[in-house]
Amino acid sequence: MRPVRCPVVAADVDIAITVRGLTKSYGKVEALRGVDFEVRRGQVLALLGPNGAGKTTAVEILEGYRKREGGEVSVFGVDPERRLRSLRARVGIVLQECAVDPYLTVAEAVTQRAGLYPEPRPVDEVIDLVGLEAKARARVKLLSGGQQRRPDLGLALVGNPELIFLDEPTTGFDPSARREAWDVVRGLCAEGRTVVLTTHYMDEAQALADAVTVIANGRVVASGSPDTLGGRDHGMTTVRFVLPAGVSVGELPLPEGVEPQRRGEFVEFRIAEPTEVLHALTGWAVRRGEVLSGLAVVRPSLEDVYLALTGGGQP
Ligand SMILES: Nc1ncnc2c1ncn2[C@@H]1O[C@H](COP(=O)(O)OP(=O)(O)OP(=O)(O)O)[C@@H](O)[C@H]1O
Ligand SMILES: [Mg+2]
Repeated sequence: MRPVRCPVVAADVDIAITVRGLTKSYGKVEALRGVDFEVRRGQVLALLGPNGAGKTTAVEILEGYRKREGGEVSVFGVDPERRLRSLRARVGIVLQECAVDPYLTVAEAVTQRAGLYPEPRPVDEVIDLVGLEAKARARVKLLSGGQQRRPDLGLALVGNPELIFLDEPTTGFDPSARREAWDVVRGLCAEGRTVVLTTHYMDEAQALADAVTVIANGRVVASGSPDTLGGRDHGMTTVRFVLPAGVSVGELPLPEGVEPQRRGEFVEFRIAEPTEVLHALTGWAVRRGEVLSGLAVVRPSLEDVYLALTGGGQP
């Protein structure tokens, strides 16, 4: 008998996660209807999408917490459904729901978790990293609402994981705590670790993500970098300024087809390429000795594009 030649498929060592045609239903609810995405090693992927879109379902399948129905899933080349100990040791998880025993102190909780991993980070270092050094001896249940997620992040990091899943990790954080958490995530990436983040904060995705995948209704509706998602880099620019006193909108030197709108004392219009019109407008204002106060030239934000993609607005 002739030997059967197996096709040699070179595993792409740069890819941490591959998801192809992933489906999952809960009874009649089709939570995932054929989802594809990929996460490169050392990158932050932000999964965005409205409530109920299927983000946590997808993440929990990748974590090995839920069983999929269809499709292929690979985490470091392994199917997470097999729940291999060797894979779990390489992965850190912040679940959407707080997962720390509220009756343990912060230090006890982190120490307990550290015991589950072959090469944990020092407990004190982790507690510092998540900004809880002053609360190390406090019971988790006595932390303030916004502090409650920090032990979760500590638990996810103590195993020294190569891949970290963060499901809405900064919900309830005050603005400075959020920035500190962003620095932690940036530090993880600088060390070559891979992060999958779900968030409803578009500024968080903009600040941290190398790649963004938007899920709505169980399907991927867009993927790309935060700066180019959904054609954001080619989107319409809004120009806005305070209409100078005694000037009517009709007097403004605007090209045909541009439709200025009054917004209180402001006037604004949208244009694909603003360079020429800004030149004409500012030249006109300078010649008249006017100031275009409050002048702003605004590209569509990630949030504008996200809302357009998920049915909530125009980019
Ligand atoms: N254990 C479950 N049993 C039944 N239905 C579920 C279960 N978990 C999730 N669902 C449903 O599956 C869909 C996707 O939920 P999922 O939690 O994945 O959404 P999500 O994108 O994470 O939303 P959010 O932004 O609110 O966290 C929703 O319709 C939800 O009600
Ligand atoms: Mg969720």
